[in-house]
Amino acid sequence: MGSALDNIFNSYAGGSIFKNKSVLQINYTPETIPHRNSQIEAVASILAPALKGERVSNLFLYGKTGSGKTLSVQYVTKEILKRVTDAGGDNLRVIYINCKLKKVADTEYRILAEIISSLGESVPATGLPTDAVYSKFIEIIERKKQLILIVMDEVDQAVKKISDSFLYNLTRLNSELKNAQISLVGISNNLTFMDNIDPRVRSSLGEEEIVFPPYNALQLQDILRERAEGAFVEGVLDEGVFAKCAAFAAREHGDARRALDLLRVAAELAEREHSKKLTMEFIDKANQKIEKDKMLDIIENEPRQHQLILYSILNLTNKEDKNEIFTGQVYNKYQEFCQKTKVEVLTQRRVSDIIAEFDMLGLINVDVVSRGRMGRTREIKLMVPENLQPKAKEILETALNI
Ligand SMILES: Nc1ncnc2c1ncn2[C@@H]1O[C@H](COP(=O)(O)OP(=O)(O)O)[C@@H](O)[C@H]1O
Ligand SMILES: [Mg+2]
Repeated sequence: MGSALDNIFNSYAGGSIFKNKSVLQINYTPETIPHRNSQIEAVASILAPALKGERVSNLFLYGKTGSGKTLSVQYVTKEILKRVTDAGGDNLRVIYINCKLKKVADTEYRILAEIISSLGESVPATGLPTDAVYSKFIEIIERKKQLILIVMDEVDQAVKKISDSFLYNLTRLNSELKNAQISLVGISNNLTFMDNIDPRVRSSLGEEEIVFPPYNALQLQDILRERAEGAFVEGVLDEGVFAKCAAFAAREHGDARRALDLLRVAAELAEREHSKKLTMEFIDKANQKIEKDKMLDIIENEPRQHQLILYSILNLTNKEDKNEIFTGQVYNKYQEFCQKTKVEVLTQRRVSDIIAEFDMLGLINVDVVSRGRMGRTREIKLMVPENLQPKAKEILETALNI
C-alpha cells in the first residue's frame, strides 16, 4: 500500500503544472483587479471620509455574480484601514457580513449578534429580545467617537429571509447615537432588489449607487491571464485556453468566478491525468463537471418539501419507462414519502407549482400532453443526467433521512 501511495504522490509532485494553485482559488485576493478601475475609484471616493472616521454616505452596489463586487469593496476597505492604522488612528471599524451564509443572516437577531461578535463582544445565541440586542450594540459602539462601516454582502439574501425592516432599523440608529456613526454598504447580485424594498429603506441605503456591469469575453481573458501568471508553470497552457474559458463564462453573463473555476478545474483534471499541458479538451471536461456540480448543489439546497417531490420523480424514473411520468403519479409517490418521513402533505396544486419551478431550474422537463378522453396532463421528464442520478438520490436520502 505504501509504495502505491508513493507512486501517486510522487507523480503528483513531479508532474505538476501548477506553480501555486491557491492563486486560482475563489477567495484568493489578486494583486491587480483589471477592468474595475472606475468602480473601485467610485467606491473609494464615496468611502474616503472614513479615513478620518467621518460618516460616509450609505452605498449600494449591484451587479450580477462574478462581476467583482465583493473583491472591489474588500480591496477598498482594506486600503482605507491600512491608511488609518498607519496613521495611528482607531476610529474606524469595518464589519463584513456575508448574508448568504446560513446561521449568519436568517434572523435580525443573528445579524446583530454577528455584528457584535465582529466588534469583539458577544450576546447569547438566542433568548434576548431584539431590542435588548440593539441596546447592547449601541452601548458597545458609543464608547468612543468612531465610524462603524457595515458591509452587508448579498444583502438581498437576508432581506428574502427576514424582510427589510432590519435595514430600516440599522439606518435609523444614527439619530440615537452621540459618539459613533453607522454607515452601510449593501451589495446585491439581484439587479431588481432595490425596486422591491420599502421606499424609506431604498432612499437611505441607496444614497449612493454603483453598478458593476458584467465583464465581456476580452476582459475575462485579461483577468484570467493575470491570475494564471502566478498560478501555472510557464509554458503549460495551450494557446487559446484563456479565450475558451472566457467564452464559456461570457456566455452566461460575464462571470469572472465561472471563468476562474473553469481554468482551475480544467487544470486539476489535467493534473490528475498526468498531462504535462493544459489543453483545450480539459476546458470542455471542466465545463461538464461544473454543470454537474451545480445541479447537485441545487438539489442539495432545495427546501425539504421540494426535495421530497424531486425524490419521488427520481424514484419513478428509476422504476418506470422514462417518458411516462405524470403529475398524478408524482403526487401519489410524494404522499407516500411524506408519510414515511412524517412530513405534512402539500396540496396537489402546490406540488404542481413546485414541479413548474423544477422545470425552470432545468432539473426536469415538463410537457403538456393530451391523453385523449382522459384530458390533458403534464408529462415529466427528469433532466438530471443518468450517471448523476445515483449521486442525486444519495444526496436526497441523506437530506431527507429516508
Ligand atoms: N477584475 C478582476 N480581476 C481579478 N479577479 C477578479 C476580478 N473580478 C472578479 N475576480 C475574481 O472573480 C471571483 C468573483 O468575484 P467577486 O468579487 O466575488 O464577484 P461578485 O461579488 O460580484 O459576485 C473572485 O474570485 C474574484 O477574485
Ligand atoms: Mg460577492
